[in-house]
Amino acid sequence: MGEKITLSVIKADIGGFVGHSSVHPQLLETAERCLAENKQLIDYKVVNIGDDIDLIMTHKYGVDNPEIHRMAWDVFLECTKVAKELKLYGAGQDLLSDAFSGNIKGMGPGVAEMEFEERKSEPIVIFAADKTEPGAWNLPLYKMFADPFNTIGLVIDPKMHKGFRFEVYDLIKNEKVEFSLPEELYDLLVFIGAPGRYCIKSVRSKTTDEIAAVSSTQRMNLMAGRYVGKDDPVCIVRCQSGLPAVGEVLEPFANPHLVAGWMRGSHVGPLMPVGKNDLAPTRFDGPARVRAMGFQLSKGRLVGPTDLFDDVAFDKARQTANEIANYLRSLGPFEPHRLPLEDMEYTSMPQVMKKLKNRFIKIDQDDEAMEAKIGAK
Ligand code: 13P
Ligand code: 13P
Ligand code: MG
Ligand code: MG
Repeated sequence: MGEKITLSVIKADIGGFVGHSSVHPQLLETAERCLAENKQLIDYKVVNIGDDIDLIMTHKYGVDNPEIHRMAWDVFLECTKVAKELKLYGAGQDLLSDAFSGNIKGMGPGVAEMEFEERKSEPIVIFAADKTEPGAWNLPLYKMFADPFNTIGLVIDPKMHKGFRFEVYDLIKNEKVEFSLPEELYDLLVFIGAPGRYCIKSVRSKTTDEIAAVSSTQRMNLMAGRYVGKDDPVCIVRCQSGLPAVGEVLEPFANPHLVAGWMRGSHVGPLMPVGKNDLAPTRFDGPARVRAMGFQLSKGRLVGPTDLFDDVAFDKARQTANEIANYLRSLGPFEPHRLPLEDMEYTSMPQVMKKLKNRFIKIDQDDEAMEAKIGAK
């Protein structure tokens, strides 16, 4: 058995530049400097999508390692100092707690980690998205690992033919459940078609039991009376040799699907695949976008990234996303562009309801009662 490598992607929104559109270069430089000083990491990259900073790190300490998590937390604290000095928007917004408690999960930042023995060649795609939530990966992960119309390898590669196991989190009840595909395909879809609640956390090969994909799906915390943890997500996917080819992993994004999280976390929009020149969502703070970074691992070294959506072949997807975005915007404050009441991050409903409380009457009361009520005001 060779030595195992851990790939950790830990991300947070430390403050937007300008508004929620991008990350100030000084924050990226600060994170770079902190990671460069660290002795535990084999390699690292600091990238961003929209206003989120992603720390991509390799090491040998396994997943959920308290020292690695603390180090990432400290990097974000250092970045927060800079963000506060520059008065960036929402400086430190994802650091929900004042004190680190051993594991960064549930404290605001998003985490996707996997530990594995590096193969003879180890191609990896890291996806990072802004203005959406972890359930945004449900549809593409399903297509990559379960849909033969997307992934022909499921049909013609003997190392993939047995299928994959999907681990799904129920974010509201804090429970998890596993499905074996393809035989439990219909059961899986009952759940993951509701991506605001049920999210694919990981996927494993049934042939080798190897980890194939991990998302930053975190359990939701009830803080200040509302759920938090539906954060701009990341996802790691290993590719080739018994796993989907890089092209099969990217293919689901050729047809932009609808995701929640646009403007004030309260709207639905298309997930647009973008290259590194289009990382800042500006139209109505969106639409949601995703970048795909390709790496070859070499003894833990992150060789890359390549900018996988920077390809003319994804131009049509971007065009379709813009057309969908135009149409949805025309609906303004109406569902399904605006999210259902219970899913919105922002609502004035309690205040408006309070103001109008006395004006509501039972529908079967007559007009006189209505007039009396209006007259009494
Ligand atoms: P504020 O302007 O009150 O921060 O809300 C709008 C927004 O940008 C959502 O995060
Ligand atoms: P972020 O979640 O990317 O900070 O965006 C907040 C928002 O509401 C933008 O309109
Ligand atoms: Mg933000
Ligand atoms: Mg963001």
